[in-house]
Amino acid sequence: MADLYEYQARDLFEKYSVPVLAGIVADTPEEARAAAEKLGGVVVVKAQVKTGGRGKAGGVKVAKTPDEAYEHAKAILGLDIKGHIVKRLMIAAGARIAEEFYFSVLLDRANRSYLSLCSYEGGMEIEQLAVERPEALAKVEVNPLTGIDLAKAKEIAVAAKFPAELVDKVAEVFVKLYNVYVSEDATLVEVNPLVLTEEGDIIALDGKVSLDENAEFRHADHEAYVDKDAENPLEAKAKALGLNYVKLDGEVGIIGNGAGLVMSTLDVVAYAGEKHGGVKPANFLDIGGGASAQVMADGLSVIFSDEQVKSVFVNVFGGITSGDQVAKGIVQALEALGSSATKPIVVRVDGNNVEAARQILAEANHPLVTVAKTFDEGAAKAAELAAAAR
Ligand SMILES: Nc1ncnc2c1ncn2[C@@H]1O[C@H](COP(=O)(O)OP(=O)(O)O)[C@@H](O)[C@H]1O
Ligand SMILES: [Mg+2]
Repeated sequence: MADLYEYQARDLFEKYSVPVLAGIVADTPEEARAAAEKLGGVVVVKAQVKTGGRGKAGGVKVAKTPDEAYEHAKAILGLDIKGHIVKRLMIAAGARIAEEFYFSVLLDRANRSYLSLCSYEGGMEIEQLAVERPEALAKVEVNPLTGIDLAKAKEIAVAAKFPAELVDKVAEVFVKLYNVYVSEDATLVEVNPLVLTEEGDIIALDGKVSLDENAEFRHADHEAYVDKDAENPLEAKAKALGLNYVKLDGEVGIIGNGAGLVMSTLDVVAYAGEKHGGVKPANFLDIGGGASAQVMADGLSVIFSDEQVKSVFVNVFGGITSGDQVAKGIVQALEALGSSATKPIVVRVDGNNVEAARQILAEANHPLVTVAKTFDEGAAKAAELAAAAR
């Protein structure tokens, strides 16, 4: 799930007419000063890290002048907030807060529904509020088919014990926040605090948005939210090649066709590894049905570039794609990779056309390839080779 930074959530809110204050991103103290000058008046210097409780950790500071913003920026940049190093700031216009509230809408997997959490008593961390004052936190189920319309939004505000004169005002904002949630395919939209200002306006002062990666295909613009720094470089490479790859902590690279077979291969290799110094599978990689030589070459090249990998186990079951096609794919992939293929590969092919497959591999007689007859034998061999190379 892709979590957004506060400044990204702020911009998204603005797009859906959720009331927010002006905010400017700054990566240096100088930029912070310039941003404060541009905004004018009191500003708030805010650490942009993907964790809550920034305020308590010293990552949110009020500045009355641009010079003060510069000093705060200097102190906050580089700060470690719960293991997140601050590299970016948002300089936000300062609000004159009268009251702080809490609102969120999220995917409720357990109940196969949406859920809105809301409280008239904001400011506190929601987990703490839920434990200490559960009666102050309204939990209202939201039917995904009807969502949060104005009537539902008012129901939420009343359940959260908002005074009558505020209900209509906040309800309007809840509807807009729900629009963000549904239109952007989010799994969470949280505002803490939603505030009432001295001027009587309702404003979202802090936002957290998690987007559903499974809906990426209909949101080309979400690509911009991918955190290149935080992404595993191997996973990024695999993604660019269109591979279904997940990096794990281990030494035996795994390639299989079909998610079920690959999952069980991880288990069997982990089990075999116990007898060989505790080596473990290094990744999940499903090359799918009908895998071509190119896909096999791409998969092997990603796995070879994983420095942790000491051996590779290719475990394929010929189904719709016959085994000989897969074997040809492996041979062609090794030819294409040439000298960049450097690690021992154990191949187990079974199923449709298995005899022809084994013959192709035997004839190729590649020095890196060992052919295994069974799943267990292949897993044990790959684990043994990995342990020997450690
Ligand atoms: N733009 C702002 N103007 C005035 N006060 C702010 C502003 N942004 C945040 N604050 C205050 O700082 C507190 C913490 O900021 P917040 O953005 O919620 O960070 P976090 O939740 O990570 O601690 C808020 O509850 C609010 O009281
Ligand atoms: Mg907050």
